[in-house]
Amino acid sequence: MSFTKTLINQTPVWAKLNLHQRTTQYLQMRDLFDNNPHRFDEMSEVLGGFLFDYSKNRITEDTLNLLIELANTAGLSEQMQKMRLGEKINISENRAALHIANRLPENAELLMNNENIVPKIQAELKRALSFAEKVRQGSLKTFSGEPFEYVVNIGIGGSDLGVRACAYALRKYQNSNIKVHFVANVDRADLDATLAEIDIEKTLFIVSSKSFTTPETLINANTARQLLLNRLPEKAVRQHFIAISNNIQAACDFGIAPDHIFQLQEWVGGRYSATSVIGLPLMIAVGEKHFRQFLAGANQMDEHFFTAEFRHNMPVLAGLIGVWYNTFYRSHSHAIIPYAHDLRRFPAHIQQLDMESNGKKVSQYGEYLDFDTGSIIWGEEGVNCQHAFFQLLHQGTRLVPADFIVVVGDKNDIHQQTLVANALAQTRALMAGKKDSETLQELAHLSAIKRDEILPQKRFDGNQPTNTILLDELNPFNLGKLLAFYEHKTFVQAAIWGINPFDQWGVEYGKALARDIYPKLSNSCETNYDSSTNGLIAFYHHCA
Ligand code: F6P
Repeated sequence: MSFTKTLINQTPVWAKLNLHQRTTQYLQMRDLFDNNPHRFDEMSEVLGGFLFDYSKNRITEDTLNLLIELANTAGLSEQMQKMRLGEKINISENRAALHIANRLPENAELLMNNENIVPKIQAELKRALSFAEKVRQGSLKTFSGEPFEYVVNIGIGGSDLGVRACAYALRKYQNSNIKVHFVANVDRADLDATLAEIDIEKTLFIVSSKSFTTPETLINANTARQLLLNRLPEKAVRQHFIAISNNIQAACDFGIAPDHIFQLQEWVGGRYSATSVIGLPLMIAVGEKHFRQFLAGANQMDEHFFTAEFRHNMPVLAGLIGVWYNTFYRSHSHAIIPYAHDLRRFPAHIQQLDMESNGKKVSQYGEYLDFDTGSIIWGEEGVNCQHAFFQLLHQGTRLVPADFIVVVGDKNDIHQQTLVANALAQTRALMAGKKDSETLQELAHLSAIKRDEILPQKRFDGNQPTNTILLDELNPFNLGKLLAFYEHKTFVQAAIWGINPFDQWGVEYGKALARDIYPKLSNSCETNYDSSTNGLIAFYHHCA
Protein backbone atom coordinates (compact mmCIF):
# COMPACT_ATOMS: atom_id res chain seq x y z
CA MET A 1 0.00 0.00 0.00
CA SER A 2 1.63 3.25 -1.05
CA PHE A 3 1.55 6.33 1.09
CA THR A 4 -1.62 8.34 0.48
CA LYS A 5 -3.04 11.53 1.94
CA THR A 6 -4.87 9.47 4.55
CA LEU A 7 -3.34 10.51 7.84
CA ILE A 8 -1.58 7.59 9.43
CA ASN A 9 -3.58 7.89 12.65
CA GLN A 10 -6.76 7.19 10.70
CA THR A 11 -5.61 3.71 9.69
CA PRO A 12 -6.57 0.38 11.31
CA VAL A 13 -3.02 -0.44 12.33
CA TRP A 14 -2.88 2.77 14.35
CA ALA A 15 -5.88 1.63 16.38
CA LYS A 16 -4.29 -1.80 16.81
CA LEU A 17 -1.11 -0.19 18.14
CA ASN A 18 -3.07 1.93 20.58
CA LEU A 19 -4.81 -1.19 21.88
CA HIS A 20 -1.51 -3.09 21.94
CA GLN A 21 0.06 -0.36 24.04
CA ARG A 22 -2.77 -0.54 26.55
CA THR A 23 -2.57 -4.31 26.81
CA THR A 24 1.22 -4.56 27.08
CA GLN A 25 2.11 -1.45 29.07
CA TYR A 26 2.44 -3.42 32.31
CA LEU A 27 4.77 -6.05 30.89
CA GLN A 28 8.10 -6.10 32.74
CA MET A 29 11.19 -6.30 30.58
CA ARG A 30 12.94 -8.48 33.19
CA ASP A 31 10.15 -11.04 32.77
CA LEU A 32 10.49 -10.89 28.99
CA PHE A 33 14.20 -11.71 29.38
CA ASP A 34 13.54 -14.42 32.02
CA ASN A 35 10.96 -16.06 29.75
CA ASN A 36 13.12 -15.98 26.61
CA PRO A 37 16.88 -16.63 26.88
CA HIS A 38 17.18 -15.84 23.15
CA ARG A 39 15.74 -12.33 23.42
CA PHE A 40 19.10 -10.63 22.76
CA ASP A 41 19.77 -12.86 19.73
CA GLU A 42 16.33 -12.08 18.36
CA MET A 43 16.52 -8.35 19.05
CA SER A 44 19.99 -7.27 18.01
CA GLU A 45 21.65 -6.71 14.65
CA VAL A 46 25.30 -6.50 13.63
CA LEU A 47 26.87 -4.57 10.75
CA GLY A 48 30.62 -5.18 10.93
CA GLY A 49 31.93 -3.57 14.12
CA PHE A 50 28.56 -1.90 14.80
CA LEU A 51 26.10 -3.80 17.01
CA PHE A 52 22.57 -2.49 17.58
CA ASP A 53 20.95 -4.07 20.65
CA TYR A 54 17.29 -3.13 20.91
CA SER A 55 16.29 -5.99 23.25
CA LYS A 56 16.01 -3.75 26.33
CA ASN A 57 12.80 -2.22 25.03
CA ARG A 58 9.18 -2.56 26.11
CA ILE A 59 8.35 -4.55 23.01
CA THR A 60 7.40 -8.05 22.03
CA GLU A 61 7.52 -9.77 18.65
CA ASP A 62 3.88 -8.71 18.26
CA THR A 63 4.87 -5.11 18.86
CA LEU A 64 7.48 -5.30 16.12
CA ASN A 65 5.03 -6.93 13.73
CA LEU A 66 2.50 -4.15 14.32
CA LEU A 67 5.16 -1.45 13.94
CA ILE A 68 6.29 -2.98 10.65
CA GLU A 69 2.66 -3.09 9.55
CA LEU A 70 2.54 0.62 10.43
CA ALA A 71 5.64 1.24 8.28
CA ASN A 72 4.08 -0.60 5.36
CA THR A 73 0.82 1.29 5.78
CA ALA A 74 2.75 4.56 5.74
CA GLY A 75 4.45 3.51 2.51
CA LEU A 76 7.90 3.67 4.05
CA SER A 77 9.49 1.57 1.30
CA GLU A 78 8.10 3.82 -1.39
CA GLN A 79 9.30 6.92 0.42
CA MET A 80 12.76 5.44 0.89
CA GLN A 81 12.91 4.68 -2.82
CA LYS A 82 11.84 8.22 -3.70
CA MET A 83 14.62 9.64 -1.53
CA ARG A 84 17.17 7.25 -3.04
CA LEU A 85 16.19 8.16 -6.59
CA GLY A 86 16.46 11.88 -5.96
CA GLU A 87 12.78 12.72 -6.25
CA LYS A 88 11.76 16.13 -4.89
CA ILE A 89 10.43 14.79 -1.59
CA ASN A 90 11.22 18.08 0.17
CA ILE A 91 7.87 19.36 -1.05
CA SER A 92 7.82 22.83 0.52
CA GLU A 93 11.23 23.72 -0.93
CA ASN A 94 10.71 21.69 -4.12
CA ARG A 95 14.00 19.87 -3.64
CA ALA A 96 15.41 16.40 -3.49
CA ALA A 97 17.14 15.19 -0.31
CA LEU A 98 20.23 13.45 -1.61
CA HIS A 99 22.76 13.48 1.23
CA ILE A 100 23.33 9.79 0.43
CA ALA A 101 24.79 10.82 -2.93
CA ASN A 102 27.79 12.35 -1.15
CA ARG A 103 29.01 8.93 -0.03
CA LEU A 104 28.24 6.87 -3.13
CA PRO A 105 31.22 5.04 -4.61
CA GLU A 106 33.01 6.79 -7.47
CA ASN A 107 31.60 4.40 -10.10
CA ALA A 108 28.00 4.69 -8.91
CA GLU A 109 25.27 6.20 -11.04
CA LEU A 110 22.47 8.46 -9.80
CA LEU A 111 20.40 10.24 -12.42
CA MET A 112 18.94 13.69 -11.79
CA ASN A 113 17.15 15.21 -14.80
CA ASN A 114 18.66 12.36 -16.85
CA GLU A 115 22.20 13.38 -15.85
CA ASN A 116 24.44 11.18 -13.71
CA ILE A 117 25.32 13.53 -10.84
CA VAL A 118 27.94 11.28 -9.26
CA PRO A 119 30.90 12.48 -11.40
CA LYS A 120 30.23 16.10 -10.39
CA ILE A 121 29.97 15.16 -6.70
CA GLN A 122 33.17 13.15 -6.92
CA ALA A 123 34.97 15.99 -8.71
CA GLU A 124 34.05 18.48 -5.96
CA LEU A 125 35.02 15.94 -3.29
CA LYS A 126 38.41 15.42 -4.93
CA ARG A 127 38.91 19.17 -5.20
CA ALA A 128 38.14 19.58 -1.50
CA LEU A 129 40.36 16.65 -0.48
CA SER A 130 43.19 17.98 -2.63
CA PHE A 131 42.84 21.41 -1.04
CA ALA A 132 42.80 19.83 2.41
CA GLU A 133 45.99 17.94 1.61
CA LYS A 134 47.73 21.16 0.55
CA VAL A 135 46.80 22.71 3.89
CA ARG A 136 47.98 19.63 5.76
CA GLN A 137 51.26 19.40 3.83
CA GLY A 138 51.99 23.10 4.18
CA SER A 139 52.11 23.72 0.44
CA LEU A 140 49.27 26.23 0.76
CA LYS A 141 50.87 29.33 2.19
CA THR A 142 49.79 32.22 4.37
CA PHE A 143 50.16 35.80 3.16
CA SER A 144 53.65 35.83 4.65
CA GLY A 145 54.58 32.62 2.83
CA GLU A 146 54.38 30.27 5.83
CA PRO A 147 52.40 27.05 6.13
CA PHE A 148 49.04 27.41 7.90
CA GLU A 149 49.02 26.19 11.49
CA TYR A 150 45.38 26.82 12.37
CA VAL A 151 42.02 26.36 10.70
CA VAL A 152 38.91 28.07 12.06
CA ASN A 153 35.54 26.91 10.75
CA ILE A 154 32.97 29.70 11.08
CA GLY A 155 29.48 28.25 10.73
CA ILE A 156 26.39 27.35 12.72
CA GLY A 157 23.71 24.64 12.76
CA GLY A 158 24.37 22.10 10.04
CA SER A 159 27.48 24.05 9.05
CA ASP A 160 28.95 23.37 12.47
CA LEU A 161 27.27 20.71 14.62
CA GLY A 162 27.77 17.57 12.53
CA VAL A 163 31.26 18.30 11.26
CA ARG A 164 32.37 19.48 14.71
CA ALA A 165 30.95 16.35 16.38
CA CYS A 166 32.79 14.19 13.85
CA ALA A 167 36.06 16.10 14.22
CA TYR A 168 35.94 15.64 18.00
CA ALA A 169 34.98 11.99 17.54
CA LEU A 170 38.02 11.35 15.33
CA ARG A 171 40.48 13.11 17.64
CA LYS A 172 42.74 10.04 17.60
CA TYR A 173 42.89 10.16 13.80
CA GLN A 174 43.93 13.81 13.60
CA ASN A 175 47.30 13.39 12.00
CA SER A 176 48.62 16.77 10.98
CA ASN A 177 50.20 19.82 12.60
CA ILE A 178 47.06 21.76 11.89
CA LYS A 179 44.83 22.72 14.83
CA VAL A 180 41.18 22.82 13.75
CA HIS A 181 38.81 25.09 15.68
CA PHE A 182 35.09 25.81 15.38
CA VAL A 183 33.29 29.10 15.99
CA ALA A 184 29.49 29.17 15.82
CA ASN A 185 27.86 31.56 18.28
CA VAL A 186 27.49 35.24 17.43
CA ASP A 187 28.39 35.85 21.11
CA ARG A 188 31.82 37.45 20.74
CA ALA A 189 33.04 35.20 23.55
CA ASP A 190 33.02 32.24 21.15
CA LEU A 191 35.25 33.95 18.59
CA ASP A 192 37.45 35.50 21.29
CA ALA A 193 38.03 32.13 22.95
CA THR A 194 39.30 30.75 19.66
CA LEU A 195 41.32 33.86 18.80
CA ALA A 196 43.13 33.39 22.11
CA GLU A 197 44.34 30.00 20.90
CA ILE A 198 45.51 30.91 17.40
CA ASP A 199 47.87 33.22 15.55
CA ILE A 200 45.57 34.94 13.08
CA GLU A 201 48.40 35.44 10.57
CA LYS A 202 48.82 31.64 10.45
CA THR A 203 45.12 30.89 10.29
CA LEU A 204 42.88 29.73 7.46
CA PHE A 205 39.26 30.77 8.01
CA ILE A 206 36.53 28.59 6.52
CA VAL A 207 33.24 30.47 6.11
CA SER A 208 30.81 27.58 6.09
CA SER A 209 27.29 28.59 5.15
CA LYS A 210 25.00 26.95 2.60
CA SER A 211 22.98 30.16 2.14
CA PHE A 212 25.84 32.56 2.91
CA THR A 213 23.16 34.75 4.50
CA THR A 214 23.11 33.46 8.09
CA PRO A 215 23.67 36.63 10.17
CA GLU A 216 25.61 34.93 12.98
CA THR A 217 28.08 33.43 10.54
CA LEU A 218 28.54 36.59 8.50
CA ILE A 219 29.08 38.75 11.60
CA ASN A 220 31.77 36.36 12.83
CA ALA A 221 33.34 36.15 9.37
CA ASN A 222 33.40 39.92 8.94
CA THR A 223 34.93 40.43 12.38
CA ALA A 224 37.59 37.82 11.65
CA ARG A 225 38.30 39.52 8.32
CA GLN A 226 38.61 42.92 9.98
CA LEU A 227 40.96 41.53 12.62
CA LEU A 228 43.12 40.04 9.87
CA LEU A 229 43.12 43.33 7.96
CA ASN A 230 44.28 45.10 11.10
CA ARG A 231 47.46 43.13 10.58
CA LEU A 232 47.67 42.47 6.84
CA PRO A 233 46.69 44.19 3.56
CA GLU A 234 43.30 43.63 1.82
CA LYS A 235 44.68 41.05 -0.60
CA ALA A 236 45.48 38.74 2.34
CA VAL A 237 41.76 37.90 2.52
CA ARG A 238 41.99 35.74 -0.59
CA GLN A 239 44.71 33.66 0.99
CA HIS A 240 43.26 33.39 4.48
CA PHE A 241 39.56 32.84 3.73
CA ILE A 242 37.75 30.07 1.89
CA ALA A 243 34.03 29.29 1.70
CA ILE A 244 31.73 26.32 1.61
CA SER A 245 28.40 27.39 0.23
CA ASN A 246 25.63 27.00 -2.31
CA ASN A 247 25.64 30.80 -2.80
CA ILE A 248 28.73 31.31 -4.94
CA GLN A 249 28.04 34.97 -5.71
CA ALA A 250 27.71 35.96 -2.05
CA ALA A 251 30.95 34.18 -1.24
CA CYS A 252 32.71 36.05 -4.05
CA ASP A 253 31.23 39.34 -2.83
CA PHE A 254 32.77 38.62 0.58
CA GLY A 255 36.15 38.57 -1.14
CA ILE A 256 36.79 34.86 -1.44
CA ALA A 257 38.59 33.63 -4.54
CA PRO A 258 36.33 31.47 -6.78
CA ASP A 259 38.76 28.54 -6.61
CA HIS A 260 38.54 28.73 -2.82
CA ILE A 261 34.77 28.21 -2.83
CA PHE A 262 33.54 24.63 -2.38
CA GLN A 263 29.99 24.10 -3.52
CA LEU A 264 27.37 22.49 -1.29
CA GLN A 265 24.53 21.24 -3.50
CA GLU A 266 21.05 22.67 -2.86
CA TRP A 267 19.68 19.13 -2.37
CA VAL A 268 21.82 18.54 0.74
CA GLY A 269 20.12 19.76 3.91
CA GLY A 270 22.41 21.46 6.43
CA ARG A 271 21.78 18.90 9.18
CA TYR A 272 22.50 16.10 6.67
CA SER A 273 25.67 17.68 5.26
CA ALA A 274 28.59 16.32 7.32
CA THR A 275 29.46 13.84 4.53
CA SER A 276 29.46 16.65 1.93
CA VAL A 277 32.12 19.34 1.38
CA ILE A 278 30.88 20.82 4.67
CA GLY A 279 33.20 18.15 6.02
CA LEU A 280 36.24 20.06 4.73
CA PRO A 281 37.49 20.86 8.26
CA LEU A 282 37.33 17.13 8.99
CA MET A 283 39.25 16.38 5.77
CA ILE A 284 41.96 18.78 6.96
CA ALA A 285 41.97 17.24 10.43
CA VAL A 286 42.12 13.54 9.52
CA GLY A 287 43.21 13.43 5.88
CA GLU A 288 41.85 11.81 2.73
CA LYS A 289 42.21 8.14 3.74
CA HIS A 290 40.26 8.54 6.96
CA PHE A 291 37.65 10.83 5.42
CA ARG A 292 37.00 8.27 2.68
CA GLN A 293 36.64 5.57 5.35
CA PHE A 294 34.08 7.83 7.03
CA LEU A 295 32.17 8.11 3.73
CA ALA A 296 32.41 4.37 3.15
CA GLY A 297 30.94 3.65 6.56
CA ALA A 298 28.02 5.96 5.88
CA ASN A 299 27.52 4.28 2.52
CA GLN A 300 27.53 0.83 4.15
CA MET A 301 24.75 1.94 6.49
CA ASP A 302 22.90 3.45 3.51
CA GLU A 303 23.06 0.12 1.67
CA HIS A 304 21.88 -1.71 4.78
CA PHE A 305 19.02 0.76 5.14
CA PHE A 306 17.91 0.43 1.51
CA THR A 307 18.25 -3.35 1.27
CA ALA A 308 17.62 -5.01 4.66
CA GLU A 309 14.11 -6.22 5.37
CA PHE A 310 12.42 -4.06 7.97
CA ARG A 311 12.58 -6.75 10.70
CA HIS A 312 16.38 -6.62 10.52
CA ASN A 313 16.85 -3.03 9.38
CA MET A 314 18.60 -1.04 12.10
CA PRO A 315 17.48 2.53 11.27
CA VAL A 316 13.95 1.28 10.56
CA LEU A 317 13.77 -0.57 13.87
CA ALA A 318 15.21 2.40 15.76
CA GLY A 319 12.75 4.74 14.09
CA LEU A 320 9.75 2.49 14.73
CA ILE A 321 10.67 1.88 18.37
CA GLY A 322 11.03 5.64 18.76
CA VAL A 323 7.54 6.11 17.32
CA TRP A 324 6.27 3.43 19.71
CA TYR A 325 7.35 5.41 22.77
CA ASN A 326 6.92 8.92 21.48
CA THR A 327 3.50 8.55 19.90
CA PHE A 328 1.91 5.54 21.61
CA TYR A 329 3.44 5.88 25.09
CA ARG A 330 3.41 9.69 24.83
CA SER A 331 7.00 9.90 26.08
CA HIS A 332 8.28 13.40 25.47
CA SER A 333 12.00 13.02 25.08
CA HIS A 334 14.74 10.70 23.91
CA ALA A 335 18.23 10.74 25.40
CA ILE A 336 21.44 10.24 23.43
CA ILE A 337 24.12 9.06 25.83
CA PRO A 338 27.55 8.46 24.32
CA TYR A 339 29.86 6.64 26.71
CA ALA A 340 32.82 8.27 24.98
CA HIS A 341 34.25 11.73 25.68
CA ASP A 342 35.15 12.08 22.00
CA LEU A 343 31.44 11.73 21.15
CA ARG A 344 30.42 14.46 23.60
CA ARG A 345 29.13 16.76 20.81
CA PHE A 346 27.15 13.99 19.13
CA PRO A 347 23.95 14.64 21.17
CA ALA A 348 24.02 18.26 20.00
CA HIS A 349 24.26 17.12 16.37
CA ILE A 350 21.37 14.65 16.82
CA GLN A 351 19.37 17.43 18.48
CA GLN A 352 19.47 19.47 15.29
CA LEU A 353 19.15 16.44 13.00
CA ASP A 354 16.07 15.10 14.79
CA MET A 355 14.33 18.17 16.20
CA GLU A 356 14.86 20.43 13.18
CA SER A 357 13.64 17.58 10.94
CA ASN A 358 10.72 16.25 12.97
CA GLY A 359 9.64 19.20 15.12
CA LYS A 360 6.52 19.67 13.02
CA LYS A 361 2.76 19.55 13.69
CA VAL A 362 1.61 19.79 10.07
CA SER A 363 1.81 16.95 7.56
CA GLN A 364 3.74 17.43 4.34
CA TYR A 365 0.34 17.97 2.70
CA GLY A 366 -0.68 20.70 5.14
CA GLU A 367 -2.99 18.83 7.51
CA TYR A 368 -2.71 19.53 11.23
CA LEU A 369 -1.71 16.39 13.12
CA ASP A 370 -3.45 15.43 16.36
CA PHE A 371 -0.72 13.09 17.56
CA ASP A 372 2.81 13.66 18.86
CA THR A 373 5.66 13.81 16.36
CA GLY A 374 9.33 14.67 17.05
CA SER A 375 10.84 13.93 20.46
CA ILE A 376 12.86 16.34 22.56
CA ILE A 377 16.40 15.13 22.03
CA TRP A 378 18.94 15.67 24.79
CA GLY A 379 21.93 13.91 26.27
CA GLU A 380 25.30 14.01 27.88
CA GLU A 381 28.43 11.88 27.80
CA GLY A 382 28.72 8.92 30.12
CA VAL A 383 29.79 8.43 32.87
CA ASN A 384 29.28 12.13 33.67
CA CYS A 385 25.53 11.66 33.10
CA GLN A 386 25.40 9.17 35.99
CA HIS A 387 26.34 11.99 38.31
CA ALA A 388 23.88 14.41 36.77
CA PHE A 389 20.48 13.04 35.73
CA PHE A 390 20.50 9.26 36.18
CA GLN A 391 18.62 9.61 39.47
CA LEU A 392 15.57 10.68 37.49
CA LEU A 393 16.00 7.85 35.01
CA HIS A 394 16.19 5.27 37.81
CA GLN A 395 13.60 6.58 40.26
CA GLY A 396 11.73 9.37 38.53
CA THR A 397 8.19 9.35 37.17
CA ARG A 398 9.11 9.76 33.50
CA LEU A 399 9.44 7.24 30.70
CA VAL A 400 12.73 8.28 29.07
CA PRO A 401 13.92 6.10 26.18
CA ALA A 402 17.67 6.39 25.76
CA ASP A 403 20.36 5.35 23.27
CA PHE A 404 23.64 4.32 24.86
CA ILE A 405 26.52 4.60 22.40
CA VAL A 406 29.39 2.49 23.72
CA VAL A 407 32.88 1.78 22.36
CA VAL A 408 34.80 -1.43 23.17
CA GLY A 409 38.14 0.29 22.51
CA ASP A 410 41.31 -0.76 24.33
CA LYS A 411 40.44 -3.82 26.42
CA ASN A 412 43.60 -3.42 28.49
CA ASP A 413 42.84 0.10 29.59
CA ILE A 414 41.25 0.49 33.02
CA HIS A 415 39.59 3.73 31.94
CA GLN A 416 37.94 2.09 28.97
CA GLN A 417 36.95 -1.05 30.90
CA THR A 418 35.38 1.08 33.62
CA LEU A 419 33.48 3.10 31.03
CA VAL A 420 32.07 0.00 29.32
CA ALA A 421 31.23 -1.71 32.62
CA ASN A 422 29.26 1.34 33.71
CA ALA A 423 27.38 1.55 30.42
CA LEU A 424 26.34 -2.10 30.50
CA ALA A 425 25.48 -1.91 34.20
CA GLN A 426 23.32 1.15 33.74
CA THR A 427 21.27 -0.27 30.86
CA ARG A 428 20.78 -3.48 32.86
CA ALA A 429 19.74 -1.58 35.99
CA LEU A 430 17.37 0.63 34.00
CA MET A 431 15.80 -2.46 32.44
CA ALA A 432 15.66 -4.87 35.40
CA GLY A 433 15.38 -2.52 38.34
CA LYS A 434 15.84 -4.21 41.68
CA LYS A 435 13.56 -6.69 43.44
CA ASP A 436 12.40 -5.76 46.95
CA SER A 437 13.79 -9.07 48.19
CA GLU A 438 17.28 -7.99 47.16
CA THR A 439 16.93 -4.61 48.86
CA LEU A 440 15.49 -6.16 52.03
CA GLN A 441 18.52 -8.45 52.26
CA GLU A 442 20.74 -5.35 52.21
CA LEU A 443 18.57 -3.84 54.98
CA ALA A 444 18.52 -7.02 57.10
CA HIS A 445 20.62 -5.34 59.78
CA LEU A 446 17.87 -2.77 60.42
CA SER A 447 14.78 -3.17 62.56
CA ALA A 448 11.60 -4.23 60.75
CA ILE A 449 10.15 -0.75 61.24
CA LYS A 450 13.25 0.93 59.84
CA ARG A 451 13.33 -1.51 56.93
CA ASP A 452 9.73 -0.65 56.01
CA GLU A 453 10.60 3.02 56.26
CA ILE A 454 13.66 2.82 54.03
CA LEU A 455 12.44 0.29 51.44
CA PRO A 456 10.27 2.69 49.38
CA GLN A 457 13.22 5.10 49.06
CA LYS A 458 15.41 2.32 47.71
CA ARG A 459 12.92 0.80 45.28
CA PHE A 460 14.03 0.54 41.61
CA ASP A 461 11.11 -0.32 39.35
CA GLY A 462 13.23 -0.68 36.23
CA ASN A 463 11.41 -1.02 32.89
CA GLN A 464 13.19 2.08 31.56
CA PRO A 465 13.95 1.28 27.88
CA THR A 466 17.34 1.65 26.21
CA ASN A 467 18.99 0.85 22.90
CA THR A 468 22.67 0.04 23.01
CA ILE A 469 24.92 0.76 20.03
CA LEU A 470 28.21 -1.01 20.64
CA LEU A 471 31.14 -0.10 18.38
CA ASP A 472 34.31 -2.17 18.30
CA GLU A 473 36.27 1.05 17.72
CA LEU A 474 35.46 4.74 17.36
CA ASN A 475 37.03 4.80 13.92
CA PRO A 476 36.07 6.74 10.77
CA PHE A 477 34.20 3.78 9.25
CA ASN A 478 32.03 3.21 12.32
CA LEU A 479 31.48 6.93 12.76
CA GLY A 480 30.12 7.10 9.22
CA LYS A 481 27.75 4.26 10.02
CA LEU A 482 26.62 5.98 13.22
CA LEU A 483 25.98 9.27 11.44
CA ALA A 484 23.95 7.60 8.68
CA PHE A 485 22.09 5.42 11.20
CA TYR A 486 20.60 8.52 12.84
CA GLU A 487 19.93 10.30 9.52
CA HIS A 488 17.85 7.34 8.37
CA LYS A 489 16.16 6.83 11.76
CA THR A 490 15.02 10.45 11.54
CA PHE A 491 13.70 9.90 8.02
CA VAL A 492 11.80 6.74 9.06
CA GLN A 493 9.95 8.60 11.79
CA ALA A 494 9.04 11.46 9.45
CA ALA A 495 7.77 8.97 6.88
CA ILE A 496 5.57 7.29 9.49
CA TRP A 497 4.17 10.58 10.74
CA GLY A 498 3.74 11.98 7.23
CA ILE A 499 5.84 15.10 7.81
CA ASN A 500 8.61 16.68 5.73
CA PRO A 501 11.95 16.25 7.58
CA PHE A 502 13.90 18.40 5.15
CA ASP A 503 12.57 21.94 5.61
CA GLN A 504 12.80 24.21 8.66
CA TRP A 505 10.43 27.14 8.32
CA GLY A 506 10.18 27.48 12.09
CA VAL A 507 13.79 28.55 12.33
CA GLU A 508 13.36 31.13 9.57
CA TYR A 509 10.58 32.92 11.50
CA GLY A 510 12.74 33.54 14.55
CA LYS A 511 15.54 34.86 12.34
CA ALA A 512 13.16 37.30 10.63
CA LEU A 513 11.95 38.67 13.99
CA ALA A 514 15.55 39.11 15.15
CA ARG A 515 16.23 41.23 12.06
CA ASP A 516 13.20 43.39 12.98
CA ILE A 517 14.22 43.87 16.63
CA TYR A 518 17.93 44.40 16.04
CA PRO A 519 17.76 48.06 14.85
CA LYS A 520 15.45 48.92 17.76
CA LEU A 521 18.27 48.08 20.17
CA SER A 522 20.52 50.66 18.56
CA ASN A 523 18.10 53.56 19.02
CA SER A 524 15.40 54.01 21.65
CA CYS A 525 12.49 54.43 19.26
CA GLU A 526 8.90 53.54 20.20
CA THR A 527 8.30 49.81 19.93
CA ASN A 528 4.88 48.27 19.33
CA TYR A 529 5.45 44.64 20.21
CA ASP A 530 3.80 42.83 23.12
CA SER A 531 4.34 44.49 26.51
CA SER A 532 6.99 41.94 27.48
CA THR A 533 9.13 42.57 24.43
CA ASN A 534 8.53 46.31 24.69
CA GLY A 535 9.46 46.19 28.40
CA LEU A 536 12.60 44.18 27.78
CA ILE A 537 13.75 46.59 25.05
CA ALA A 538 13.02 49.55 27.33
CA PHE A 539 15.10 48.00 30.12
CA TYR A 540 17.87 47.29 27.61
CA HIS A 541 17.95 51.00 26.78
CA HIS A 542 17.76 51.90 30.46
CA CYS A 543 20.92 49.94 31.18
CA ALA A 544 24.08 52.00 30.91
O1 F6P B 1 19.05 26.28 11.81
C1 F6P B 1 18.52 26.82 10.64
C2 F6P B 1 19.52 26.60 9.54
O2 F6P B 1 18.99 27.02 8.32
C3 F6P B 1 19.98 25.16 9.46
O3 F6P B 1 19.09 24.34 8.75
C4 F6P B 1 21.32 25.33 8.83
O4 F6P B 1 22.13 24.19 8.97
C5 F6P B 1 21.85 26.54 9.61
O5 F6P B 1 20.71 27.37 9.80
C6 F6P B 1 22.97 27.28 8.94
O6 F6P B 1 22.55 27.69 7.65
P1 F6P B 1 23.69 28.09 6.58
O7 F6P B 1 24.55 26.88 6.37
O8 F6P B 1 22.94 28.52 5.37
O9 F6P B 1 24.49 29.21 7.20
